[in-house]
Amino acid sequence: MINLAILISGRGSNMEAILHAVKKKKIPARPAVVISNKPDAKGLEVAQKLGVKTAVVESPGLKGGSWDYDQKIVAVLEENNVTPKNGLVCLAGFMRIISPEFIRKYRGRIMNIHPAILPAFPGLHSQRQAVQYGVKYSGCTVHFVDEGVDTGPIILQSIVKVEDNETEDSLARRILRQEHKIYPQAVRLFAEGRIKVMGRKTVTY
Ligand code: GRF
Repeated sequence: MINLAILISGRGSNMEAILHAVKKKKIPARPAVVISNKPDAKGLEVAQKLGVKTAVVESPGLKGGSWDYDQKIVAVLEENNVTPKNGLVCLAGFMRIISPEFIRKYRGRIMNIHPAILPAFPGLHSQRQAVQYGVKYSGCTVHFVDEGVDTGPIILQSIVKVEDNETEDSLARRILRQEHKIYPQAVRLFAEGRIKVMGRKTVTY
């Protein structure tokens, strides 16, 4: 069984969706630890209520993408037996860029959820970008993390129609509902060994 770590910075609703699926035995994984870079992240309480261990690794003054910071995260992962052999690290609203060293160490074992249909609207405020651009459809993407920003191999996507009177908030809410479906699904596929990565492409079976 894989050992699961979830990295958050805030609300943690995707984390909650994944942990619920684990509790209901829909995902064969051991929820090892939830790590936040913010001590006041709401998701920490949610994880604790679900009986999952939490840790805070604060990042004052440490730039995103720095191995100095990520080494501290890796130390917590190792303490909790989330290794490059048996682990999966899920970024769920973790508002930091991950360093190339961390990515190399856990290659193919770090996933992220992004609130747009990649490669459209990477980076921040994707829902706002989608509304402002005037697209008719947006959605969300679960992907493996590589050295770029939101560029790794795509695992699952879900489409949401953008209505004529759509606002950033209304779109974000509807996309979030889809996020809560496809992120646990992707984790389940991984935990069951049902994702094959071939270059940029993934095949799930
Ligand atoms: C989600 O919209 C996710 O796609 C993005 O950050 C947000 C996190 O929300 N990466 P939550 O903390 O999971 O509720």
